[in-house]
Amino acid sequence: MLDIKAIRTHFPILQKTVNNNPLVYFDNGATTQKPLAVINAITEYYTKQNANIHRGVHALSREATELFEEARKTVAHFINAEESELIFTSGTTHSINLIANGLSFEKDSEILLTQLEHHSNILPWQLNAQKNNAKLKVVPIHEDGTLQLENLKNLVSKKTKVVSITHVSNTLGVINPIKEIISEIRKLNSNTLIVIDGAQSVPHLKIDVKDLDCDFFVFSGHKMYGPTGTGVLYVKKNVFNQLQLSASGGGTIKTVSFEKTEYVDGPLKFEPGTPNIEGVIALSAAVKYIDSIGIEKIAQYEHELLGYAQSKLAEIPEVEVYANHLNKAAVISFNVKNQHPFDVGTLLDKYGVAVRTGHHCTQPLMNYYNISGTIRASFAMYNTFEEIDVFILGLKKAIKMLS
Ligand SMILES: Cc1ncc(COP(=O)(O)O)c(C=O)c1O
Repeated sequence: MLDIKAIRTHFPILQKTVNNNPLVYFDNGATTQKPLAVINAITEYYTKQNANIHRGVHALSREATELFEEARKTVAHFINAEESELIFTSGTTHSINLIANGLSFEKDSEILLTQLEHHSNILPWQLNAQKNNAKLKVVPIHEDGTLQLENLKNLVSKKTKVVSITHVSNTLGVINPIKEIISEIRKLNSNTLIVIDGAQSVPHLKIDVKDLDCDFFVFSGHKMYGPTGTGVLYVKKNVFNQLQLSASGGGTIKTVSFEKTEYVDGPLKFEPGTPNIEGVIALSAAVKYIDSIGIEKIAQYEHELLGYAQSKLAEIPEVEVYANHLNKAAVISFNVKNQHPFDVGTLLDKYGVAVRTGHHCTQPLMNYYNISGTIRASFAMYNTFEEIDVFILGLKKAIKMLS
């Protein structure tokens, strides 16, 4: 059992009032709030260690470097990767761009995505496809937001160079059975590179990249209680040499001359320039914080919140929930019949309830449902059943006012 009361004291922002109501923060899919452990890690770094890393011989630089590389170990361990497989980036979007810009294919190659993807897992591949004369293919979904996996064998061929797929849909919360999908793809084409967008799964599910057997796994720090501007690109050891450099600069080399440059091996090669040092250190504080609570316990509690909220929404006849089942992370997307999501979201804000409205950077998914947007409530470990009651009451009032 989680001690939610104690957990809430770790997040100072939860004391805030919005429009004279206690803040009910249900926009965790966009970004989570930050615990004191993370906020303090940033302050502490600037108070005690601030220096540039990897290049200095003085004490502060050595200490900062040590903290940064310690963070790499902590974060790698969190997803069961080796530290030599973990590149720090500014977020999921940056990580996917590094992959898509770092792979080139022969003409008529194919890149397989799904109908569920976030724009950040579509657009870099679209640019890649334009550059390489490759073709994008898409795994369709069923009405309940699950993938039409029965189609996989028709979609993966000898030409399929990459499959890039989200673990958890940011809009619907649907959890894709990626372990089974990866294993199926490996059978269909053992040379296909498999990229998993873990932006929405890492905060909610235990991740083990070795067990999954993916080639790349990417996520953002800010959606898992860490700071913005931090992210991770996991690259499986034996595919590292397939990823070409798409950006370069200081900190990545062994030797440079105008004629020839020799790069270092491993993650530093892909981290040019001064990185987000305090961010990475604070990201490792976020990982330690999650570990101190326990990801399995978090997942179980959030699942209870999901079940409660969906059962309450089911009592409101005007509400239509998309992917109305429980094989999901704690995300609910819904609409109120004949109302624009923005109007509902704006009224909920009057009661202090923060939800996200719009297309959630998943326009192809919106096109599938033939809608322009949804209202999305997404939960984190600090949310409560009482907050869901406030949300439901506010929603009922909003519906009354709008009709
Ligand atoms: C599934 C998914 N992929 C990618 C992204 C992009 O993440 P970021 O903006 O942190 O780069 C998001 C953000 O919402 C997401 O939910």
